Amino acid sequence: MTYLVTDACIRCKYTDCVEVCPVDCFYEGENMLVINPNECIDCGVCEPECPAEAILPDTEPDTEKWLEINSKFSAEWPNLTTKKDEFPDADKHKGEEGKFEKYFSPEAGEGD
Ligand code: SF4
Ligand code: F3S
Repeated sequence: MTYLVTDACIRCKYTDCVEVCPVDCFYEGENMLVINPNECIDCGVCEPECPAEAILPDTEPDTEKWLEINSKFSAEWPNLTTKKDEFPDADKHKGEEGKFEKYFSPEAGEGD
């Protein structure tokens, strides 16, 4: 089992999640984060920290797509372990539908 970041993170990227992860397994893309499923220890502490409710356990239905995205991009993007400013218009994009189709970027973020 692992926790996964979904597209609810896109263009929000609040990064509260990285502060609480005991194993530093978040990785930063241009406009979202992902979790490395091989490093996540399923502690669950990140899930309630996300203001966008973007983090789910893989026991939820229909999470296969997010498992694929988190696995693939955590191997390509840099590690992020400290909180940074959210997107300037994060609150506007919180809860928006269809963000993956509209905005997903495979580009790496800056990390730390
Ligand atoms: Fe990190 Fe725990 Fe969240 Fe996994 S469930 S990403 S180990 S905080
Ligand atoms: Fe994204 Fe939520 Fe973390 S918006 S960066 S998963 S706190």
